[in-house]
Amino acid sequence: MRVAGLISGTSVDGIDVAILDIGEGGMSLAGAGSVAYPADVRGAILAASNADTHTAAIARLNFFLGELFAEALLEVCDRAGTPVRSIDLIGSHGQTIFHEGEPVQFLGRRVASTMQIGEGAIIARRTGVPVISDFRVGDMAAGGRGAPLVPFLDYRLFRSETVSRIALNIGGIANITVIPRGAKPEDVIAFDTGPGNMVMDQLAPPYDADGAKARAGAVHQALLDQLLHDPYYAAQPPKTAGREQYGPDFVARTGIDIATAAELTARTIAMAIRNYEAGEVIVSGGGVHNGYLMERIRALLPGVRVATSAEYGMDIDAKEAVLFAVLAYESWFGRPCNVPSATGARLAVVLGKLSR
Ligand SMILES: Nc1ncnc2c1ncn2[C@@H]1O[C@H](COP(=O)(O)OP(=O)(O)O)[C@@H](O)[C@H]1O
Ligand SMILES: [Mg+2]
Repeated sequence: MRVAGLISGTSVDGIDVAILDIGEGGMSLAGAGSVAYPADVRGAILAASNADTHTAAIARLNFFLGELFAEALLEVCDRAGTPVRSIDLIGSHGQTIFHEGEPVQFLGRRVASTMQIGEGAIIARRTGVPVISDFRVGDMAAGGRGAPLVPFLDYRLFRSETVSRIALNIGGIANITVIPRGAKPEDVIAFDTGPGNMVMDQLAPPYDADGAKARAGAVHQALLDQLLHDPYYAAQPPKTAGREQYGPDFVARTGIDIATAAELTARTIAMAIRNYEAGEVIVSGGGVHNGYLMERIRALLPGVRVATSAEYGMDIDAKEAVLFAVLAYESWFGRPCNVPSATGARLAVVLGKLSR
């Protein structure tokens, strides 16, 4: 079966597309690519993310992003020479504009909530392909935090009988999946370690190419020490982070600079990894392109082999899009695909909503 996966992550940089041939025997990538958001679109999404906004902005963006997600798939199909009619199913994560995995007190009840937009019905209509979207809400309805969903794929790709591995994805937020050697699905631990590119991106927009500015700057040690004392880093998983913690409020409140932001990112990633026994760390996501960040992570993890997912046959920038193709495939056949040990859900459930 040929399944396309679509996602825009918390960096809000653009839409990642993967076209995957998948069956019970395995999977192979038939095409992948990214389509950047125009600057005004990115601005409109950020203005509606974790912000006081008008319901009209959210409703319009939902439909507008549906169009952009469909166009991104058509463009990557074009580039890959893969006709869209060869695709049987689409899995679309959409764009997160709000995520609160931990319940808060609201109108006298405890409510956890999340919102991903990019209307599935629009994508289905524009492409002629059925779309499964809105994957996170099903996990949250089962008591989970709705994230991370990536352990389902990491387990399939990287589980080994002989080596304990940790998959690290550095998107806007950084997350790890711990897969002990010989693990069963319930042995997998996964959580957000803290910031990925999100804080750095705000200080050197749109991003600090190869970490050059961070490398040239000086780390503000007292501020770094203070930030590392945030109880989030010592808290036991499951736990999730997002633009709520590391958005503009964080940057304004702390007065952090680019060098300190890069060091905070590397240190919190390394601290999380050092809590587990791992022979290999396998890194994916846009942060891999930041040579300085990778250098710092390697330096903070002596004796650990830090490789990229490309060395394991998985495109660095396509892994999360591949995930939503895989989750759509599982959903299509009615199989559960959250990992309860990772999200904290009471049980494994079928995720996603279908637009025909
Ligand atoms: N050449 C580069 N140098 C430094 N950082 C980069 C480079 N290319 C991409 N990035 C980082 O990767 C981010 C996008 O990564 P991505 O995996 O798409 O994150 P998300 O899943 O949150 O959207 C950019 O915002 C930027 O911070
Ligand atoms: Mg992205």
